[in-house]
Amino acid sequence: MIVRESTAPAFAGASNSAESRGVGVRSEGKGDSTNFLVFLSDGRHAEDVELDGGDRFVLWRPSLRRLRPPGTPPKTSLWGLAYYLRILRSRDYAVLMVVRDGKVVHRSSVIPACFRWPFMDVNDLQVSGTWTEPAFRGRGLATMALWKLLVLFRQPGRRFWYVSRVNNAASVAVCSKAGFSYVGTARRTCRFGSRFLGSFEIDDATCAGERTRRIA
Ligand SMILES: CC(C)(COP(=O)(O)OP(=O)(O)OC[C@H]1O[C@@H](n2cnc3c(N)ncnc32)[C@H](O)[C@@H]1OP(=O)(O)O)[C@@H](O)C(=O)NCCC(=O)NCCS
Repeated sequence: MIVRESTAPAFAGASNSAESRGVGVRSEGKGDSTNFLVFLSDGRHAEDVELDGGDRFVLWRPSLRRLRPPGTPPKTSLWGLAYYLRILRSRDYAVLMVVRDGKVVHRSSVIPACFRWPFMDVNDLQVSGTWTEPAFRGRGLATMALWKLLVLFRQPGRRFWYVSRVNNAASVAVCSKAGFSYVGTARRTCRFGSRFLGSFEIDDATCAGERTRRIA
């Protein structure tokens, strides 16, 4: 797949003019909060990091007895289910947690390609569900976790994607610090009334930057 990488991110007021594609697919509403920014990395420049003090990285992977990572809502099990039903197109579904004194203070997931992100190639990974416990925000935990995920999961030809709401400044700052490049805006569609079954559609009009390249 060809990805055209734009040179300048549009962090606000992103276009929402493109119509959703596909039969039986409808888009969400049209406010700013329903527009997303798409970022991309090949992970090549990520440096391995270690945590200070009592923090440690714990890599969670699904098992039949544990379909969702500790502390996440029940609906997160859908990803574990998608893993076992082979809806996820590779075996690399995992969640990296930062644990302090037995408590999860940060988590970030990598989710393999599936219907939800039609722009991903089969071996690509989506970095998703990035979350830091409020009391631990602003200490670099999310940035370090993203670096660690890139190092752990990078492979020749593999691309990492990151989708953020257009108005989530913290999220955009984190992926930018972790070395992701801006690709374009996207909108989330629903399918059969479900966001989970919907997909993110990149608005091609926002990908008309000077550079056109396929990282893989
Ligand atoms: C987004 C989130 C994971 C960031 O976690 P974090 O551990 O605080 O991130 P970091 O400490 O690594 O911060 C990375 C950069 O983002 C910047 N940043 C953090 N919050 C910010 C904000 N509200 N506005 C602008 N920049 C912000 C930091 O200043 C830092 O840059 P700096 O080192 O140059 O100062 C956290 O805010 C969070 O859990 N938010 C709620 C869930 C969410 O929105 N997740 C993203 C889903 S796509």
